Amino acid sequence: MKKVITYGTFDLLHFGHVNVLQNAKKLGDYLIVGITSDDFDKRRGKLNVKQSLAERIDAVKKLGIADEIIVEEYEGQKIDDIKKYGVDIFTVGSDWVGKFDYLMEFCDVTYLPRTEGVSSTQERSALRSLRFGIVGEASYLGKYVAESKHVNGLEVVGICAKSTANFSQDIISLVTDKKYNDFLDDVDAVYVASQPKYHFEQISLALKKGKHVLCQSPVALTKHECQQLFDLAKQNNCILMDAIKTAYSVAYSRLLLLAKMGEIGDVVSVDSTCTSLVDVKKDNDYGFEWKSLYDWGPTAMLPIFQLLGDEYVHKNITTAYLDQDKNFDAFTNVSFIYKNAVANLKVGKGVKSEGELIVSGTKGYIYVPAPWWKTDYFEIRYEDSSKNKRFFYQLEGEGIRHQLVTFAKSIELGINLSYINPHMSLAISGVVQDFNEKKDLFVIEI
Ligand code: CTP
Repeated sequence: MKKVITYGTFDLLHFGHVNVLQNAKKLGDYLIVGITSDDFDKRRGKLNVKQSLAERIDAVKKLGIADEIIVEEYEGQKIDDIKKYGVDIFTVGSDWVGKFDYLMEFCDVTYLPRTEGVSSTQERSALRSLRFGIVGEASYLGKYVAESKHVNGLEVVGICAKSTANFSQDIISLVTDKKYNDFLDDVDAVYVASQPKYHFEQISLALKKGKHVLCQSPVALTKHECQQLFDLAKQNNCILMDAIKTAYSVAYSRLLLLAKMGEIGDVVSVDSTCTSLVDVKKDNDYGFEWKSLYDWGPTAMLPIFQLLGDEYVHKNITTAYLDQDKNFDAFTNVSFIYKNAVANLKVGKGVKSEGELIVSGTKGYIYVPAPWWKTDYFEIRYEDSSKNKRFFYQLEGEGIRHQLVTFAKSIELGINLSYINPHMSLAISGVVQDFNEKKDLFVIEI
């Protein structure tokens, strides 16, 4: 019996898939179809698959062409499968010509003609795209425009900013914030990355108009306003998501999981540092409004609140202002004391430090080298260094891409799938509020 094997995602099954499967079957007597798992697709950068693994398997099964269906879960699995199932022929469509020649030492490799004029990518784009507007002046907005191009079903239609001088995306319409109201009428969802003092007003208006909101953390400058916004989102059946791209990095999620599984024993201390030395006044006209704690605080708080929760018993904020009006903090240190742990964060735009993350536990510690917020690598270290482990995970688009996919998927399903729960958004707004109200705050001169 001649065994044939083929692989694919088979998202939104189309006649190109049917042809390739029929032709594959004709090559032998028994056809095995490997369908990629959701995780494997994510790891190889295919983030927009519309159907779940179960739905895709079901659709291929219903065709009745495959004799056996298996799941492809890891890089290098093809060789294992060929040996395991005694495969004679490996085949895929001609879009892959040459890519699988390395399998020739294990079995025959045949590339079948690809059906012209149809693909899952096309089918996905035919589904109605979400009209996505960007609001604000933050310097990294260009990255969001670029990353959105990798997200199917989401189309950036315009930017609304106080000043449009910073942008050169000529294909995208640019309007000033005076037209914010009209701008909202033209979109389904917005990403708000304006100066934090405008978040409340801008998000409220968007939610009242039934628009979904992804907002650069902090969502609001007080706990009360943050709660009001989440309530408003609920009333209007809208998704409100706090944006911290690091939360969507695979390596970061993995280290959280390992810490929570007890890999380093009980977590006793979390130390996170995020700094970027900038000439605030020159950096951009509005740079002064993005204080160190606004810009870096939410990212630095992310591992602290995600590992230890938000119920700390005591907090101290120590800050050094850059200006006489005590508006801009060049450096801020926040220490949290929990019942059974401590945490410390350092953020600065006027002070430079090593941007590392250290999670200390009773059995060992996790070390993430700088810049930890763009994590693709971390280590678990023990007293006996021969037991140390290193982890590496590809980081796609600094986490922004996956964050946008999660936002689009939340809107599609009507369920908030955010990696940052509203409790955490409230806790972040709470720290920012105490900082602004100078509660638990000491000032140092530098
Ligand atoms: N295939 C084909 N003809 C097409 C589309 C796909 O022969 N028009 C084949 C591929 O070559 C592959 C199999 O179908 O052997 C599964 O491909 P998959 O990547 O799932 O489908 P695509 O439509 O190419 O998906 P995407 O657009 O996401 O790349």
